Amino acid sequence: MRPITRSLIPCLALLVSTFFCLNFLWADDARLTKEQIKVFLETAKVINAKGSRKGVTHPWRLTLSDGTITHDASFQGIDEHTAAKKFQSGNMELGFVDSYKYNIAAYQLSELLGVDDMLPVYVERKWQGQTGSLSWWLPVKMDEAEQRDKKLAAPDTEKWNNQMYRVRVFDELVYDTDANLSNVLIGEDWTIWRVDFSRAFRTSKNLHDPKNLVKCDRQLFQKLRSLTAESVGEKTKNYLTKAEVNSLMARRDKIVATFQSLIAQKGEQEVLYSLDAAH
Ligand SMILES: Nc1ncnc2c1ncn2[C@@H]1O[C@H](COP(=O)(O)OP(=O)(O)O)[C@@H](O)[C@H]1O
Ligand SMILES: [Mg+2]
Repeated sequence: MRPITRSLIPCLALLVSTFFCLNFLWADDARLTKEQIKVFLETAKVINAKGSRKGVTHPWRLTLSDGTITHDASFQGIDEHTAAKKFQSGNMELGFVDSYKYNIAAYQLSELLGVDDMLPVYVERKWQGQTGSLSWWLPVKMDEAEQRDKKLAAPDTEKWNNQMYRVRVFDELVYDTDANLSNVLIGEDWTIWRVDFSRAFRTSKNLHDPKNLVKCDRQLFQKLRSLTAESVGEKTKNYLTKAEVNSLMARRDKIVATFQSLIAQKGEQEVLYSLDAAH
């Protein structure tokens, strides 16, 4: 072998190993497709488990590995059905449900509406004999509670607001009775994610808090308008009842009507925006 060829071998080996190493890092992060993430969550082996500190029902933080990728996930196994639930506040809710099924339903709905980038992927998974939801662990910097406590402002107010308007619209659609600040997670670059829908999908045909509807992402508005009970029913068939789907559709009608009237009052430019176009 000529000396020049021989000296190239270590360089090549370094290049190849760097490539595989980088590939691994990318694969472990945002480079996996949603489908690959789903398969990983459904099939990878659980190699570690610990209870999470934050939140209300303290789901498990699991570490999963398929031999190549190792990543954490949140396991929520709650499926509580109570005829009349009394809360510490003194309030009572009839037909109370707190269920992992709603996490999966919310993710599936977000896919239908093209806003699945604002939720972690949720799948159904059985762990230690219990069926629950499992979500891809997100690279979180802080939650909204911490952001407010520390009075930290996002560097790009418009981007922040535009993300938050989408969250608000989604919250009204799914009617989450527990849409608290620990369920809004913030990434390094101030990306906003919404987690935890176990107390959503109430059968109210009214909006929870209509003043949350200020502006709407144009694409989301179009998808909302074309949403049908059939498509929602089909997509969420193992997780939502017919009554839950019908109530969701009634709220959809109200959300669309609210934005249509805002557009009539203020003009489309003041109400609809494009998240992608601005950033
Ligand atoms: N996919 C995820 N990625 C990162 N953090 C998560 C994820 N899911 C949950 N968490 C964290 O765990 C906390 C508790 O989980 P959550 O699903 O909200 O259950 P609960 O509020 O009922 O205890 C959340 O507030 C959040 O801080
Ligand atoms: Mg929570």
